[in-house]
Amino acid sequence: MKEEINWLERINETSAYIKSKVSQLPKTAIILGTGLGELVNHIDITTAIPYEEIPNFPVSTVEGHKGRIIFGNLGDKYIMAMQGRFHFYEGYSMKEVTFPVRVMKALGVKTLFVSNAAGGMNPNFKIGDLMIITDHINLFPEHPLHGKNYDELGPRFPGMGHAYSERLIAKAKEVAKDNGIRVVEGVYVGTQGPTFETPAEYHYFHVIGGDAVGMSTVPEVIVANHGGMEVFGMSVITDLGVDGVIEKVSHEEVQKAANAAEPRMSFIMKEIINQFQEL
Ligand code: HPA
Repeated sequence: MKEEINWLERINETSAYIKSKVSQLPKTAIILGTGLGELVNHIDITTAIPYEEIPNFPVSTVEGHKGRIIFGNLGDKYIMAMQGRFHFYEGYSMKEVTFPVRVMKALGVKTLFVSNAAGGMNPNFKIGDLMIITDHINLFPEHPLHGKNYDELGPRFPGMGHAYSERLIAKAKEVAKDNGIRVVEGVYVGTQGPTFETPAEYHYFHVIGGDAVGMSTVPEVIVANHGGMEVFGMSVITDLGVDGVIEKVSHEEVQKAANAAEPRMSFIMKEIINQFQEL
């Protein structure tokens, strides 16, 4: 067996460093994935810490890609946000991909909001749709909880029966309805990427119960649930892998659809966070 890194020590060291930089600790965190880039413009930033200054944080592999943790107010809520996330396909281990979520938990965060871009397999979906994630299927080849379990972080065999908060899903639907925003719901399939799917793979993911597929989110959501956090997630449907209507998908098209959906997704997330007193 490989010698294990002491993750508990690392998490404590990193959270102590961050605590020394901020005067207030948030109860809510947001991972600003695809679809939420614009939300940063609504945050009244009080502190921003570049990832490279944070001890034990993974080092970004993408040049010119500046990741940072932001603290500040979103509406009347004090929150923290990750601008830039770590993907498995970039070469990080699952422990590295999910390390920021461990740190959030150590800082006292209770609720996590996540977003991503995904390809839709559900024939009722349209490009540009917002999908509320109701559940997921984990198809990553490595599990974020693989290896030694620290009881301080969560149980050895955590349940995933309520991985996505029912009350936050209900609130998101209410906000969308009240504001005339079309939302769909579905199961997110998490795969390693970086290839987009073949038609047969999209078909397969739909047959096994998936509505959308993407290359992120599942690891972070598993770790958040392991730590007892409440989770809400949303996907922007940026392309379709529906039988018979599979079009050529490119990173540019994904970006274009995501940019168009950003104001709607940001609005819903901000409303949810501001409508619950305890967030
Ligand atoms: N497949 C996987 N990941 C994705 C897709 C897709 O079709 N679209 C955006 N991210």
